[in-house]
Amino acid sequence: MPVKKSVTPKKSTAKSTKSALELKTNHIYQGDCIEIMKSLPKGSVDMIFADPPYNLQLKGDLHRPDNSKVDAVDDAWDQFSSYKEYDQFTREWLTAARDLLTDDGGMWVIGSYHNIFRVGAILQDLGFWILNDIVWRKSNPMPNFRGRRFTNAHETLIWVAKSEKSKYRFNYEAMKTMNDDIQMRSDWTIPICNGGERIKTDDGEKGHATQKPEALLYRVLTATTQPGDIVLDPFFGSGTTGAVAKKLGRKFIGIDREDSYIKLAKKRIAAAEPLSEEALHGMTAKREEPRVPFGWLIERGLIQPGATLTDSKNKIEAKVASDGSVVTNDGTNQYKGSIHKVGAAIQSAPSCNGWTYWHYTDGKNSFPIDRLRQRVRDEMNVNTVIQ
Ligand SMILES: C[S@@+](CC[C@H](N)C(=O)[O-])C[C@H]1O[C@@H](n2cnc3c(N)ncnc32)[C@H](O)[C@@H]1O
Repeated sequence: MPVKKSVTPKKSTAKSTKSALELKTNHIYQGDCIEIMKSLPKGSVDMIFADPPYNLQLKGDLHRPDNSKVDAVDDAWDQFSSYKEYDQFTREWLTAARDLLTDDGGMWVIGSYHNIFRVGAILQDLGFWILNDIVWRKSNPMPNFRGRRFTNAHETLIWVAKSEKSKYRFNYEAMKTMNDDIQMRSDWTIPICNGGERIKTDDGEKGHATQKPEALLYRVLTATTQPGDIVLDPFFGSGTTGAVAKKLGRKFIGIDREDSYIKLAKKRIAAAEPLSEEALHGMTAKREEPRVPFGWLIERGLIQPGATLTDSKNKIEAKVASDGSVVTNDGTNQYKGSIHKVGAAIQSAPSCNGWTYWHYTDGKNSFPIDRLRQRVRDEMNVNTVIQ
């Protein structure tokens, strides 16, 4: 039985510069995240996930219809005296975060209607390049107890690249596979953090008012990082990012000001079990798979010289030559060249992916030649054969 090669966590490509503070991974720094991020080496992290204060501006206590008090976010760390002060804080932490990212790094910022529009504008002002805004639709939101507005049932995550030129990571195939082979959309339905996942203090109280669900971080990290990447969370709280990063074989760096949260996060992360390398082996992005030229299919006898390829509708035919070129004609012109060039010429298109355009027949069925390329790739990935 052939055994697939396992994925060895890659060494992060992050390059660091001299700095006041040594970069420690799988570590939580205590203090103000702006000061700490400024002291860490520039260009040293692959991805940032940030869940900053929302500046909720709650006016007085909120009660349920049975008069019980709603456990709202009224912590001191969420208080700002004005939008101006909040914007200044946002600009400072985002500037420090941008410096820490590698040139190809990506960042996620989560927020609600209270702050996300301000964060979005500042991100653009600072040169970040917005890739998506994801709507996290809460399947079990808190009702609007006063009945004066719609139920606030979502939060927004803005996903950005460091700049327009960044070659950011997006594990497209992994996301599609996770979604039953349908392209993953920008609206995600995930329950809020509840039940056993909710971290408690020793007195049985809620450990952190805004603990995010692990499922949310699971998707973010699976989509935009790979094993071995360094992920920084400057507003670490109960350590959700760290716990999921550890499970998924990523390295984390956490920052939080509050000692009590850091204690909770440390305990939580210590209990998190990393997945095995085998379980981490997921879908490789197509561009990272080994290059297989069309000629290799002929050398290996998977396609015979003289064989006929067709388009998916079986309307256009081309003959395969021994050197890997294909020949076809449209009644007026003859076209000869690579599978891609001839596919583009016959359709009068600027380009064509010959691997998906051209089909071969196997029995009564027709398949894209990409299926044969995958067979060669699978063969290349096998490193052990158990007889
Ligand atoms: C919205 S909560 C993050 C919750 C976290 N995502 C979780 O799942 O537990 C924001 C956190 O940022 C911390 N914080 C606020 N301002 C900070 C600052 N300037 N520097 C470091 N930490 C800060 C707070 O103590 C709080 O734990």
